[in-house]
Amino acid sequence: MKRRDEAGLDEHIVSQIDRTRAHLIETYRKKAKHYDITSRLYPAPGYPQRTQRLHAVQALGLRTGDTVVDMACGTGLNFPLLQKAVGPGGRIVGVDLTDAMLARAQDRTKANGWSNVSLVQADAADFDFPAEVDAILSTYALTQVPECAEVIAHGTAALSAGGRWAVLDLKVPGSTPGWLAQLGTATLRPFTSIDEWIMRRPWDVIRAAMQEELTDFVWTELFFGTAFLAAGSSQSGLRDCKP
Ligand SMILES: C[S@@+](CC[C@H](N)C(=O)[O-])C[C@H]1O[C@@H](n2cnc3c(N)ncnc32)[C@H](O)[C@@H]1O
Repeated sequence: MKRRDEAGLDEHIVSQIDRTRAHLIETYRKKAKHYDITSRLYPAPGYPQRTQRLHAVQALGLRTGDTVVDMACGTGLNFPLLQKAVGPGGRIVGVDLTDAMLARAQDRTKANGWSNVSLVQADAADFDFPAEVDAILSTYALTQVPECAEVIAHGTAALSAGGRWAVLDLKVPGSTPGWLAQLGTATLRPFTSIDEWIMRRPWDVIRAAMQEELTDFVWTELFFGTAFLAAGSSQSGLRDCKP
């Protein structure tokens, strides 16, 4: 029988964490249990999150049998869409910093009988991407990672020829006055420093990094500029043909 630790994580989940970012982990440990329900209200009730996720997965251009990394996968809300795209012969690697979020992802995986999902507890900034992955996705997470440009670069280096990167996340609309942005995001991100997030403008950092690293880069602002979908291909050429 498998043992579970305090966060409910099975012992076979590989841990690469070095005990940094303790506050973030603590925050998401508290959120994990009800995340699937509360995230439906994120960042506001009625927000078209599901449609945005669908567009993000479509931007990956996945094919049957592909390997895809879901970076900062949380409880695995993207997994059903990814499964549909890669099929049982494909592979999903879910990476997240928070053990309790991964435990929920593991529950989802077991409940659906998916045998092609691997879960890794790791900081996105340190994660060793598997070689030759076909696609990398990150949704509503990468702007929380100060080293997001490095994550983009490391991921791109691991992509197979023509492999795809897609990032979906929130941003502050261009025309929003600073005080209003602060008010709005304060309700969304009680776990991070809003001032720091607005000042750092991580969406601009992600955009610049993807523009530099990828070809066919496309940036789309979503829902009145409150979110973005950024996607592009590895510059190493056209995608290899699967046998
Ligand atoms: C808002 S949740 C989004 C989860 C999932 N991607 C989704 O779309 O539902 C943010 C996730 O990012 C993870 N996270 C934050 N910083 C991270 C980091 N540096 N490395 C890996 N995961 C991180 C958190 O643990 C959390 O599960």
